[in-house]
Amino acid sequence: MDELQFKAAPMGAIETQQTWEAPSNIALIKYWGKYGEQLPKNPSLSLTLSQCVTQTNIQITPRTKSQTPLFDFYFEGQRKPIFNSKIQVFLNRILPYCPWVLEHHLKIQSQNTFPHSSGIASSASAMAALASGLVAVENLAEDKAAIKASFLARLGSGSAARSVNGPLMVWGAYQEVSASSNHFAVSLPEADYHPVFKSYRDTILLIDQGQKQVSSSKGHQLMENHPFAEARWNQAYNHMKTLLMALKEGDLERFMTVVEAEALSLHGLMMTATPGFILMHPNTLAVLQQVWAFRKESGLPLCFTLDAGANVHLLYPKKQAAEIEQWIKGNLAVFCQRGEMIHDKVGTGAKKV
Ligand code: DP6
Repeated sequence: MDELQFKAAPMGAIETQQTWEAPSNIALIKYWGKYGEQLPKNPSLSLTLSQCVTQTNIQITPRTKSQTPLFDFYFEGQRKPIFNSKIQVFLNRILPYCPWVLEHHLKIQSQNTFPHSSGIASSASAMAALASGLVAVENLAEDKAAIKASFLARLGSGSAARSVNGPLMVWGAYQEVSASSNHFAVSLPEADYHPVFKSYRDTILLIDQGQKQVSSSKGHQLMENHPFAEARWNQAYNHMKTLLMALKEGDLERFMTVVEAEALSLHGLMMTATPGFILMHPNTLAVLQQVWAFRKESGLPLCFTLDAGANVHLLYPKKQAAEIEQWIKGNLAVFCQRGEMIHDKVGTGAKKV
């Protein structure tokens, strides 16, 4: 692919501001392992969420051209130097596509509706909001802007590529999904999934809200010499095939089997890396057992998935939401830190505020 197709035309001096919000997303098929500049070793597929969002305001002012991007970053109203290096890396990576950044100062102010580094993919929503705001300055046609935003967001954090749009996103070239690419994510066409998934629910159990011990970036790196790497990537392709069938047919049994297998595989890969690591908490395991027991007893289609963290995402259809939510609140709050959980649902991606 010619990546320079994403290069912005000369823009001149810009004085403007943009506020964009982007949601988190939850991967059903996991991205775990990358190569080159943020390219995935296997295709991934996610549900875009709607309540867990990052809102980002970018103030753009002209300045004399320099060698490196110049920015100030505020998180929830305060300067947060801890995030600066991640933003610096992101801005440097996007320079070939947004050269105008070198001639402008960026004041970036961000806030989340959920705790960052809690295992909810906050880098996904953050990078998707930032990328969407920057691309908006370029006045591209809507479809082109969304693809470029996803392309840029990927350079900030791989999973962010999938937060720009919705409701179901595929990132990574996969033969059966037309226009799919390693460079950006695309929406799964509506004809390819059953309507039940458009209003799917995701209750996120906040089991451990502390900082993760091992970052996703480190986890990806540990896939490089992982003894099961090749088998994993093959598994992801096979899971993709099965999941796409389940999505199309609205086959919830098959859906739940693949989604849970992906979550357990992801954490299995962490444990079998060198050095191995465990991001699950004892309460994570307790919840998984409870979910299986509840499903067996009630016959209701509740399943779990996990991100690179201790928190559990509980997925279920809207139709059974009242019954399932009542059970979750009554039985699983005890496993959550301060009893906290977030009731989220599938959404459509980034938007201008
Ligand atoms: C387990 O996108 O956070 O959530 O590209 O290094 O920023 P970087 O990694 P990141 O990895 C996400 C991993 C995952 C699975 C997924 O979202 O697909």
